[in-house]
Amino acid sequence: MPLETGFFTRANELVCDGVPLSAIAEAEGTPVYVYSAATLRARYRAIDAAFGDYPHRLHYALKANSAFAIARLLREIGSAVDANSIWEIELARKAGFSAADIVFTGVGKTDAELECAVPLGLKAINAESAGELARIEAIASRTGRAARVAIRVNPDIDAGSHPHISTGLNINKFGLPLDQARELFGTIPQRPALTLVAVHVHVGSQITTIDPLRRAAAVAARLSAELSRAGVELEYVDVGGGLGIRYDDRDVASATEYVGALIDEVRTTGLPIVVEPGRAIAGPAGALIARIVDVKPRNAVSEFVVIDAGMTELLRPALYGAFHRIDVVAPRDGTDGGVRQYEGVRQYEIVGPVCESSDVVGRDRTLPRVRVGDLVAIRDAGAYGAAMASNYNRRPLPAEVLVDEGKWRVIRRRQSLDDMLRLELA
Ligand SMILES: Cc1ncc(COP(=O)(O)O)c(C=O)c1O
Repeated sequence: MPLETGFFTRANELVCDGVPLSAIAEAEGTPVYVYSAATLRARYRAIDAAFGDYPHRLHYALKANSAFAIARLLREIGSAVDANSIWEIELARKAGFSAADIVFTGVGKTDAELECAVPLGLKAINAESAGELARIEAIASRTGRAARVAIRVNPDIDAGSHPHISTGLNINKFGLPLDQARELFGTIPQRPALTLVAVHVHVGSQITTIDPLRRAAAVAARLSAELSRAGVELEYVDVGGGLGIRYDDRDVASATEYVGALIDEVRTTGLPIVVEPGRAIAGPAGALIARIVDVKPRNAVSEFVVIDAGMTELLRPALYGAFHRIDVVAPRDGTDGGVRQYEGVRQYEIVGPVCESSDVVGRDRTLPRVRVGDLVAIRDAGAYGAAMASNYNRRPLPAEVLVDEGKWRVIRRRQSLDDMLRLELA
């Protein structure tokens, strides 16, 4: 195991947990996602440790990255999960999570999903509306076993992140406004097929300051206290996920500050805290490695660098204008066949191969001089990267590699055209 873990430069070359990214790209081709097992563990443990002896449970949000090997790795170190579909639930079960380790969240759970999920006896189904709660109740009544539910409230708090990943304002589709939630809570004592175990909030993702997370936790704590006074015994407070990561040079709240604020707000309820972090665990643990396929003039000061990964492998820049650091895997020393022609830095527009003008991975980046064939690493792509990949332009889903203890292995092989066609009928 190298002393340094994660992605770092050694002998002028970017490595992951000590393994040169160029070696992985050489063997597996590009584009390829590479994950650091050490970073996944460290990120999980940082949040876990910040709770100290305060009772808590981390339910890793599978939506961020549900690679089977990553789900298993996190189970091995004690994580539980937050699943957003019946398929994530089934994946979690196959990865060894028990029903008591799974919370089921998400707007728009279908009847078919609920028919499967309710009999499993999950830790909680986080209901998003009165209608969904009634559907859960009907299924539970039929099966003769009360369903454990949480109710997701929408506290009307601005997460301060990108509008597409803010979920806690009343204009957003998520959860129930407080007045409606209170009304629904009032009905619980008369509904024997429902066991209310928690109040749930989640106000958005990539939240970089503590304030929105603290205020959301305060709302959940206040409602939990009200319920307790009304004689409803809850088991925990679910404050969702949302802690951001450092994509650029701007500061982001630390796990310690985050957890400290949660504990401050929830402690008076006497209840344990459930958190559902996704990005904060998986984001910094992954990089997307791509190869440069073309370099061409753009304007007087910059060139286009076309790489073999784009919005099909990493949608975030096209979808939210998200920023990802881009590094040259092995910057040239300026020598090429004895001619010093690649030294210096240059401004580049780094674009993908997909037939969309929005397929820009990095705008106006200053990098060491590159040329066709060089590798770049798109950093902090472990969350909402591979999980959002698509087959647009018939591009196959990329390979994924996990580096652990200085050794690497493919955890998802590159999709082939045959893999795609297997589902199609002529
Ligand atoms: C209900 C819920 N919990 C947890 C998460 C994970 O969020 P993040 O990856 O920002 O921690 C999400 C994602 O937005 C979510 O919708």
